[in-house]
Amino acid sequence: MKDNHIDLVLFGAAGDLSRRKLLPALMHLDYSELLSPDLRILALSREDISTDQFMAGQEQTLKAYLGEQRWSEGLWQRFCQRVDYVSVQFTDISQYAALSQQLKPERVAVFYFATPPSLFQTICENLNGSGCLSEQSRVVLEKPIGRNHANCKEVNETVGHFFDENGIYRIDHYLGKETVQNLLALRFANRFINAQWDNTCIDHVQITVAETVGIDGRFSYYDQVGQLRDMLQNHLMQLLCLVAMEPPNTMTAHDIRDEKVKVVRALRVIDDATVADHVVRGQYTQGWYRAEELTGYLDLEDADNPDSDTETFVAVKAFIDNWRWAGVPFYLRTGKRMGEKVTEIVITYKTLAHNIFASHENSPNRLVIRLQPNEGIEMQMLSKQHGIEGDMGLIRQNLDLNFLAASGIERIPDAYERLFLDVIRGDQSLFVGREEVEQSWLWCDQLISAWESRRLKVNPYSAGTKGPAQAELLIGRDGRSWHE
Ligand code: BG6
Repeated sequence: MKDNHIDLVLFGAAGDLSRRKLLPALMHLDYSELLSPDLRILALSREDISTDQFMAGQEQTLKAYLGEQRWSEGLWQRFCQRVDYVSVQFTDISQYAALSQQLKPERVAVFYFATPPSLFQTICENLNGSGCLSEQSRVVLEKPIGRNHANCKEVNETVGHFFDENGIYRIDHYLGKETVQNLLALRFANRFINAQWDNTCIDHVQITVAETVGIDGRFSYYDQVGQLRDMLQNHLMQLLCLVAMEPPNTMTAHDIRDEKVKVVRALRVIDDATVADHVVRGQYTQGWYRAEELTGYLDLEDADNPDSDTETFVAVKAFIDNWRWAGVPFYLRTGKRMGEKVTEIVITYKTLAHNIFASHENSPNRLVIRLQPNEGIEMQMLSKQHGIEGDMGLIRQNLDLNFLAASGIERIPDAYERLFLDVIRGDQSLFVGREEVEQSWLWCDQLISAWESRRLKVNPYSAGTKGPAQAELLIGRDGRSWHE
């Protein structure tokens, strides 16, 4: 089987993503005996150092990410055996010779581009020019895939010139999260959920991705991007697609992508006329998280643009103009330096047509799909208050499925672990298709152009809070409120 002969070639191996996510994920897989013994990792970076020096530089971080329970000297030695460090200036083709010598035609090379997208084209050309590519080669692209629709198309065309679409794995790490996959199981393996998943039963949907982290150390990159491009165009859009898509014919990548792209195509354009009512932008100022003082976005040490109006928070009211979702608002919000780290999808059902319980107001059921923290699914429902005295009272109770507790496993694997395994197995179902990413940019471009033309300002919010008050109004105007 091909799985047994993989060379994983990591461009940008000394970078932040590799240190915090990629290498720890690979080591966790190694710990769980999920990597074939002959899988090799070629770690590529500019610095002229030896493999031993590179690994020595990674050891402490990996130890911390793996945790005491999993770390052992034996595992570390085994992991080190897999890794070869190769020093390459990515823009200099003459330096690819060292890499091409390491790659063997009988093995499958998986090139992982953990680099800025501006390097994708050069790397592809140099890999091709130095004879590193074969028909079996695969490539993994980290987001962002472009910074607008035109640029995204360019990236796709460039990479598509060298790799077949079946060999291109566009990562959105949210798709590797356990609960996101569970959403598919919840929707398509349960009749009672599936039967009530449309505008006749559902009042509205909320998707919240709130982060406590700020932009510290990333200002120059982030200031060019902002939260809409950094989070909404990709992660929230993928969650939206999985909530809203029709059941795919099968669980194959082709069928799943077909359904997801239809959702993006059906998203109503937010234009000059609607942007002010449908979008709120925010930017964090100085604030507090527990007892820690947090610096405002414009006062960060590396902030060099005092007039920046880049958003660190965005809330959007979106509509999907199709048969299933007509009239159901999807409220999306995401921000940095919020009071709590929460990722959740909340489905609020319509209230009953008639309430026969005089003691209780007619209130809706809610289905809360928690991605983090405490991955799980919670169904909020009403039940009878225990007791025999008085009228029959109702109380709100939760059916709570906590994945960690229910599965009996020691930890929920990180998204990158799952995604690495899928690339190795050649399964693209949890990766983003070309059309999806391009359509998503198209919708975001239109929205951004509307906010630019209407000069939609960023509203300040104190770091460590829920975001700007205007976001409460966005949903409050419709007689609804954010789920807290
Ligand atoms: C990345 C964004 O894609 O996702 C970061 O570029 C963000 O800005 C991160 O912090 C959030 O990922 P997670 O898994 O911690 O929610």
